[in-house]
Amino acid sequence: MSAEETTKIVTLAELQENSKREKLYILLHGKVYNVTNFIDEHPGGDEVVLAEAGKDATEAFEDVGHSDEARGLLKDMFVGDFETGAAETIKSTPTSEKKPVAAETASSMSYFLPLTVLVGYFAWRFYTSGSA
Ligand code: HEM
Repeated sequence: MSAEETTKIVTLAELQENSKREKLYILLHGKVYNVTNFIDEHPGGDEVVLAEAGKDATEAFEDVGHSDEARGLLKDMFVGDFETGAAETIKSTPTSEKKPVAAETASSMSYFLPLTVLVGYFAWRFYTSGSA
């Protein structure tokens, strides 16, 4: 029996492979849990847990305000840490916030410059055609 000294790393592919009732992994706070045998006993029902399969369930889990007892159950279901970085790709990114100010300024500048040239060109056309 080799004790798992090094924590297993679960990949995004692995998480998504195990997203069925027969074998169900759930991602919470960057850690992956095997909830296959638990979903039938889940006080909140199996549907809500199944709905979080293959993605980051942290928000749904925290929204419910699970008890310490509920959190304690997770220990026995722990599979491994989720691969670093991958969580970002499956998290639903809020449309607000983010977007660095510098990037925004740069992108508005890139519109502003050609626009100025265009307006200048038409102004020039207007004046030259007017005098012809
Ligand atoms: C996978 C790990 C999960 C565990 C170990 C777990 C455990 C529990 C436990 C023990 C309760 C009873 C109340 C409490 O002690 O807080 C509960 C309730 C509940 N859980 Fe979970 N849960 C898990 C995931 C989820 C997920 C992903 C959802 C998605 C929304 C969810 C939704 C709910 C709801 C709605 C209740 C309230 C049920 C009621 O009061 O009628 N749970 N859960």
